[in-house]
Amino acid sequence: MDIIVSAVWFTIALATITVVIMTKVARRRTKVDTVCHRPPPPTVNGGAAIGVLYTFLTRGLRVMIHDQYEKFGSVFTISLFGQKVTFLVGPEVSAHFFQGPDSEISHGNMLEFTVPIIGKEVGYGVDSTTRKEQYSFFFDALKPPKLRSHIGPMLQEVENYFSNWGQQGLVDLKHEMEQLLMLISGRCLIGKEVHEMIFNEFFTLFHKLTENSFGLTSMFFPYAPTSANRRRDIARAELSKLLTEIIRLRKISNTDEKDLLQNLIDSKYRDGRPTTEVEVTAMIISIIFAGKHISSISSTWTGACLLHHKRWLAAATEEQELIIRKYGDHIDYSILQEMDILHRCVKEVLRLHPPSPMFFRKVHKSFNIRSKEGEEFEIPSGHTLVSPVLFNCSIPYIYKDPDVYDPDRFGPGREEDKVGGKFSYTPFSGGRHTCPGEAFAYMEMKVIWSHLLRNFELSLVSPFPRTNWMKIIPDLQGKVMVSYKRRSRTT
Ligand code: HEM
Repeated sequence: MDIIVSAVWFTIALATITVVIMTKVARRRTKVDTVCHRPPPPTVNGGAAIGVLYTFLTRGLRVMIHDQYEKFGSVFTISLFGQKVTFLVGPEVSAHFFQGPDSEISHGNMLEFTVPIIGKEVGYGVDSTTRKEQYSFFFDALKPPKLRSHIGPMLQEVENYFSNWGQQGLVDLKHEMEQLLMLISGRCLIGKEVHEMIFNEFFTLFHKLTENSFGLTSMFFPYAPTSANRRRDIARAELSKLLTEIIRLRKISNTDEKDLLQNLIDSKYRDGRPTTEVEVTAMIISIIFAGKHISSISSTWTGACLLHHKRWLAAATEEQELIIRKYGDHIDYSILQEMDILHRCVKEVLRLHPPSPMFFRKVHKSFNIRSKEGEEFEIPSGHTLVSPVLFNCSIPYIYKDPDVYDPDRFGPGREEDKVGGKFSYTPFSGGRHTCPGEAFAYMEMKVIWSHLLRNFELSLVSPFPRTNWMKIIPDLQGKVMVSYKRRSRTT
């Protein structure tokens, strides 16, 4: 009996202590989480949210955001199927999105679909501390002083590639860029082994991996037993075997190569641990994905825009002629920096066709935000945040006539992106997750297009391409047919 009474009192006491502790913890958590009570952003839900989804599916992302922006301003939430998605439109409301610490705002599990593509040893397969260290290996390997050593091999790849074109002909620019960017990535990022030993095999496997990884089904159901996922896994396993062999060979060869592969092999974590073979393999796959795929799409868009806008084709060609008059056929890293017009032409392509049209984050800790219109809202934890790059890069109070291809908007006296303030131009993201390959990407696109402008007369034969929105990284629909005729001068 005593035992029963004691047990009852013990239970009551335990329950009371638990309630007191939980109340205190909850109060403390409330103090931390709710920085200060503000209303949530204006929210579209129910039938209206279905209407928004319908607009998105039928009229596209820009129209959908434009409609809600007009109604609610720069911060609004769309609540659909139990998910609350808050849009932050414009640079004025983007600081926390790009700069907030990972403990408060991060990709969450939204990029988990990349794990079977890239590998569970890097990126979203590992904890955030390890991921940050691996990210710093990329930054270190791709910083501008190290890029200078890539310019020679890159030029050589480009010259060799186009020497195989005839006097005149017709090509699918999309296919050409995909092949060429693979060669450049193979040579500069992995090393000459890929180029000399296994390029065709490597290219085929990588193509298979890309083709079977970026469909919407693979994104939402990365582990479903679909045939695309199966093909992806087979390609990934074979690619990994090839890369591991290269890494092993490199390790025993005692080479003095300075390429990205060597940098990643030589990288060490803060505790002194060297990178392993599987980690280097996964990092290489990750960087080739990031580097090759996006750059080949952007390089094709650059061609389509230049050839479609004759005024800019003429301006960029004239710039090359001036540079040739100054330096002859020689190109090095500093000469590449002088190609301002070409640089702005590429930059404008990325504004109009950002490879990632939206960035997503998950809110882990609620925060307050002041909208451009001056209202304060609290964004609760659990919300998904969207930074709509495609829309932000076309805001009319920042970019004059935003739908016009006008590379001069970035030129002296205008610099619309700088006037617009930090986070006005985010095709390479910004803050904590900014792309480490930006300088490399400009370098390869300028090397390719300076060569083409110097050596060929080009014209777009097919209609100006449309965007294929059915891909996670939207690319160009169909073939992009271009006719070429070799100029009389040779480089
Ligand atoms: C036009 C070309 C390119 C564009 C527009 C671009 C854009 C981006 C963007 C938007 C992100 C970050 C996405 C996020 O917020 O999570 C990113 C990440 C990354 N990019 Fe690029 N990129 C380009 C080319 C390259 C190249 C050439 C390389 C390497 C040589 C590269 C390496 C990377 C890597 C390694 C990451 C992942 C960083 C991480 O681990 O989070 N990118 N890129």
